[in-house]
Amino acid sequence: MNRQTAPLVGILMGSDSDLPVMSEAARTLEEFEVPYEIHIASAHRVPERVRRYATEASGRGLEVLIAGAGQAAHLAGVVAASTVLPVIGVPLSGGRGGVMGGIDALLATVQMPPGIPVATVAVDGARNAALLAVAILAVSRPERGLGQKLTRFREQMARSVDDRDAMLQELGFRGYLEQAGSGRS
Ligand code: RP5
Repeated sequence: MNRQTAPLVGILMGSDSDLPVMSEAARTLEEFEVPYEIHIASAHRVPERVRRYATEASGRGLEVLIAGAGQAAHLAGVVAASTVLPVIGVPLSGGRGGVMGGIDALLATVQMPPGIPVATVAVDGARNAALLAVAILAVSRPERGLGQKLTRFREQMARSVDDRDAMLQELGFRGYLEQAGSGRS
């Protein structure tokens, strides 16, 4: 694999039931043309493979790891324990048995003991996890122009908020809601 296409980000998730949310991270990395790989690897069900993956990640050229899990969400922490690469944790609400809207996974992911940090995003925050990975790579890989891409992305977001406000002023809230209900988001 050449330097342009070799994966820089590893996306891990505890189960295929996490894929609907975690695929958002993959889509976001594609938007920024950041090469990634994506795997199912549970900290509890295949602990040896998770540890091996994390241990070997840096040597394989990965620079950031994103780990999403629900319930007793130890995946990000276990990965972080076996690598010095930055690890971004995504607590997940769903799966087939999450409770309290993902607060179980949030606490399991965010409450790391001092010494082994996990940069935890919001519950189901896979898109932000990818954006944070892009921001990290913007520093380590200046040749990819990711800083400029992030700036353009934010400008676009700002324009979309301004457009929506202009529309709200024009239509009033009733008209705006009607229009939104008829397909405009
Ligand atoms: C976690 O347990 C996974 O990350 C998933 O969110 C949850 C449930 O897994 P399944 O029973 O859906 O495979 O390890």
